[in-house]
Amino acid sequence: MTLHPFHPPGRGRQYTALRGLSELVMRSLFHGDWPARAWDRMPGRALVERLDHRICLDPARPRPTPLRIAFASDLHLGPTTPESVLDRAFALLSEAAPDVLILGGDYVFLEATPARARELRDRVRAVPAKVKLAVMGNHDLWTHHGLLEDALAEAGARVLINDAVRLPSPHDDVAILGLDDPWTGEPDGARAVAACGDAAVRLGVCHSPDGVPFMRGRGVSLLLTGHTHGGQIALPGPRPIIVPGPLGKRWPFGLHREEDLTLFVSRGVGTTELPIRTFATPDIAVFTVT
Ligand SMILES: [Fe+2]
Repeated sequence: MTLHPFHPPGRGRQYTALRGLSELVMRSLFHGDWPARAWDRMPGRALVERLDHRICLDPARPRPTPLRIAFASDLHLGPTTPESVLDRAFALLSEAAPDVLILGGDYVFLEATPARARELRDRVRAVPAKVKLAVMGNHDLWTHHGLLEDALAEAGARVLINDAVRLPSPHDDVAILGLDDPWTGEPDGARAVAACGDAAVRLGVCHSPDGVPFMRGRGVSLLLTGHTHGGQIALPGPRPIIVPGPLGKRWPFGLHREEDLTLFVSRGVGTTELPIRTFATPDIAVFTVT
């Protein structure tokens, strides 16, 4: 039970007095979304990198039809994410024409308003993918996440909370699980894996790389995550300065091998706190699973 006057409207844990106070100040300071509009006038502001990765699950059993997955995380609709960045990210997702679109959570920053929920619905709906899956992030769980869950459902995306989906043919040997946010939600790795049933291939999505301990040793081949923003403000190298989460510090972005698990950490699309990124270019990723 929290002992301070700031209670989030959502089910998210870890909402501290400092977080509540800073969000109250930012809601007032950023009224009218002027930081995103100001940043939208900067040259090069709409740079979003498409990362292409080819993942070979089992060289002895090549897939007759490769499975194409597009992944985007941390959209952060709100006062610090320019429209042009979101336009570019969604154009890249549509261009990829994936079999499956996966969204890694943190759809908003500060508040899930009906207008932001409609924007999320329309953007996700426009991506041509047969299967769309989503998990919630910490910023979603701290606000009216029901609005976002409804918007995603209207866009054809299934929100996975410690649950899984079996893909349709010709990829019906694959299940994709979604783990609830490890920091602010109620993650249950055993339940999410059990929901995969007898699928020969298990892939996963979780908002943060802190989901890795819940997936280790459970036969999950690939885990897609975000949350870190690659530090958002980083030094050349790139060397992130501040990265949230204990495992985010270890894996701030990119592709990593952790025992039998391949981990991907996206730098995300949008921004929080300030509309600025340095040496942490927004990204979306396209995986060809063979
Ligand atoms: Fe985020």
